[in-house]
Amino acid sequence: MNYHPLQDQLRRPIHDLRISVTDRCNFRCSYCMPKEIFGDDYAFLPSGELLTFEEISRLAGLFVSLGVSKIRLTGGEPLMRRHLPELVTKISAIRGVEDMGLTTNGVLLGGQAAPLYAAGLRRLNVSLDALEPGLFGRMNGRGFRPGMILDAIDQAAAAGFEVKVNMVVQRGVNESEILPMAAYFKKRKITLRFIEFMDVGNDNGWSYDKVVTKQEILRQLQSVYTLEALEQNYSGEVAQRYGYLGSPAQIGFITSVSESFCSTCSRARLSSDGKLYTCLFASKGFDLRAMLRGGAGDEELLAAIKQVWEQRSDRYSDERTEETRRSKAKIGMSYIGG
Ligand code: GTP
Ligand code: 5AD
Ligand code: SF4
Ligand code: SF4
Repeated sequence: MNYHPLQDQLRRPIHDLRISVTDRCNFRCSYCMPKEIFGDDYAFLPSGELLTFEEISRLAGLFVSLGVSKIRLTGGEPLMRRHLPELVTKISAIRGVEDMGLTTNGVLLGGQAAPLYAAGLRRLNVSLDALEPGLFGRMNGRGFRPGMILDAIDQAAAAGFEVKVNMVVQRGVNESEILPMAAYFKKRKITLRFIEFMDVGNDNGWSYDKVVTKQEILRQLQSVYTLEALEQNYSGEVAQRYGYLGSPAQIGFITSVSESFCSTCSRARLSSDGKLYTCLFASKGFDLRAMLRGGAGDEELLAAIKQVWEQRSDRYSDERTEETRRSKAKIGMSYIGG
């Protein structure tokens, strides 16, 4: 067989597909869905515009046939999409899906962990930016308390999920939570990943001076712990991992600002209304839903996806400057799911 793996303009393969299942969220994190913009009258997508589970799994199968083996479900908040375990079942059944994960804020996890596990989901990334209730309530914009999320994390881990925690660090907001969060999750042997605040969307108040870099966070941690850098699990891994001396617990850093990782980026993104994006910071997506609903066959869809990937040359984080940040119109984080 004459098999040519699909590659983009920078010779990057397609390995991961991040699927957003809803653009809605029950949080209003200022760095993602600021309240002033996502207010009571914000027009979220009407349900008829969302891809159905049949449409999503059909597309997922096509992506897998082009080289994708890793799938992540995102939102908005993916657990707000009704009957999500049914989608998990469908995606688990696709031959060639080696890994499936879900990124959630954890509020609805308590009630949904068991059916998600039964449907075949094994990996959860839970976003949590602070342990201090007042600060956490302000950061999530809705006054949710961390206790319910911490309980859900413990229960999910006990039920067999591999759980990681994502913390977006912003200067002047939650740097004081770095050490308490590290201590809390080290004790539970749950991987905590520190994420550099990114300039996603056009309205999240980002500036370079609000970014707390990996080096700064590492220095804080090293004042208390002995840490050693770990080998990458696989090429293109987003997080740089470290281990604590004398403990199986790990931490990670996602350094999109201080050490970008575009050269190995093999991630495609599908929005909840069926647009294909080739970068988190893209301005425009390719409308796969129009093709699906227009009756396109698998061959036509495959040809379209291939063409989009072959034309891809995105490397936004490598090229980020004050100028690109201001002048480029970007899609919203909550719409594309990170
Ligand atoms: P794992 O498979 O568990 O490593 O998942 P992940 O870290 O790829 O996914 P998750 O949804 O937990 O994302 C963690 C953070 O990494 C979020 O802030 C994402 O926005 C960010 N991230 C993921 N992929 C990319 C990427 O391709 N580019 C950039 N700039 N950030 C990314
Ligand atoms: N910068 C960095 N990470 C972000 N996330 C959302 N917005 C931003 C941002 N501006 C994170 C969430 C979640 C993941 C999907 O993306 O906290 O963990
Ligand atoms: Fe916060 Fe995630 Fe919701 Fe965005 S999608 S507002 S980051 S919980
Ligand atoms: Fe990939 Fe774009 Fe992120 Fe670079 S900025 S790693 S190209 S998604």
